[in-house]
Amino acid sequence: SIPKFVKIVEVGPRDGLQNEKNIVPTSVKIELIHRLASTGLSVIEATSFVSPKWVPQLADANDVMQAVHNLRGIRLPVLTPNLKGFEAAMASGAREVAIFASASESFSKSNINCSIEESLIRFRAVTRAAKQLSIPVRGYAFYFLFNYFKITSNNCASISVLGKQYLSQSAQVKVYYVSCVAGCPVEGPIPPSKVAYVAKELYDMGCFEISLGDTIGVGTPGTVVPMLLAVMGVVPIDKIAVHFHDTYGQSLPNILVSLQMGISTVDSSVAGLGGCPYAKGASGNVATEDVVYMLNGLGVKTNVDLGKLMLAGDFISNHLGRPSTSKTAIALNRV
Ligand code: HMG
Ligand code: MG
Repeated sequence: SIPKFVKIVEVGPRDGLQNEKNIVPTSVKIELIHRLASTGLSVIEATSFVSPKWVPQLADANDVMQAVHNLRGIRLPVLTPNLKGFEAAMASGAREVAIFASASESFSKSNINCSIEESLIRFRAVTRAAKQLSIPVRGYAFYFLFNYFKITSNNCASISVLGKQYLSQSAQVKVYYVSCVAGCPVEGPIPPSKVAYVAKELYDMGCFEISLGDTIGVGTPGTVVPMLLAVMGVVPIDKIAVHFHDTYGQSLPNILVSLQMGISTVDSSVAGLGGCPYAKGASGNVATEDVVYMLNGLGVKTNVDLGKLMLAGDFISNHLGRPSTSKTAIALNRV
């Protein structure tokens, strides 16, 4: 069975735009957030308080937040990699933040210029400061799945997904390297236990929700299920969210198996915007329109109005001067 209601976390204004080469005017970002807010979405990741040298596109984070932080009935988390970002976010009126840890050592270095352990120390400082102000903190744990996982022990409880038996929590999972996508970092396979380790650290430091990100979009249900099982062993299922990129067109099947495993929070990006500046070759997030279309078809409630969502997608696609990558938007715009 799958959840009756799915909370969608719209990440378009942040994850979607952070990789755009041409600077999108602040007014366009603000209008996009307003349009998204009118669709019924309850969470919109608005921007990042990161170094403008690293992500020039989001250098206007303060102006964006000043303009939208009073929007009613909507949560607008922002990314904060360190205390400096947290303080700037608070000054702008932000009332929810997200921290982001990599489960890959080399990606941590190229994304936030420090090791995983160093990043966890910084994030603990952020969660401590947030706690004092009663600010909720979301945690991202992200990973690369170049490989597939093979389960090697079978003396524990099992779960059936797509007619296949998978072992729960204590299952021994072995990682086999298969191939590396073009332009991938040198590190290779990230074992599910490493993803689980980072997820648990973030949970233990007080994150109310842990979003598991397949940053470059190479996962399939075959790799995602064992990874989720490993994380479900250390973080309660209702605190786990999934965050897929659509590089290989695997996002919807990955979301479907995640729902079958009991996950009910899904990150997505209007018009399929996105890509990570430090992950070459990664394409956009799964399109929110496609997620809503699938969930509507499954009879799962989201409270999101697909028509209004498409208008928000048209708005930003027109501005960027290229078609939406949402299959649903393309199809419905034809009829
Ligand atoms: P650093 O260079 O190691 O930091 O960067 P530093 O402390 O040495 O500072 C360097 C300069 O940045 C200094 O300025 C600081 O003041 C400034 P300078 O003295 O040179 O003029 N600085 C800041 N400015 C504004 N806001 C701040 C801030 N902190 C320092 N918060 C740092 C370290 C973390 C800052 C940098 O690496 C950074 O900003 N990285 C951000 C990378 C990023 O945003 N990546 C994309 C988000 S992650 C993602 O997309 C994946 C996800 O979607 C999940 C998935 O898809 O799977 C979440
Ligand atoms: Mg992402």
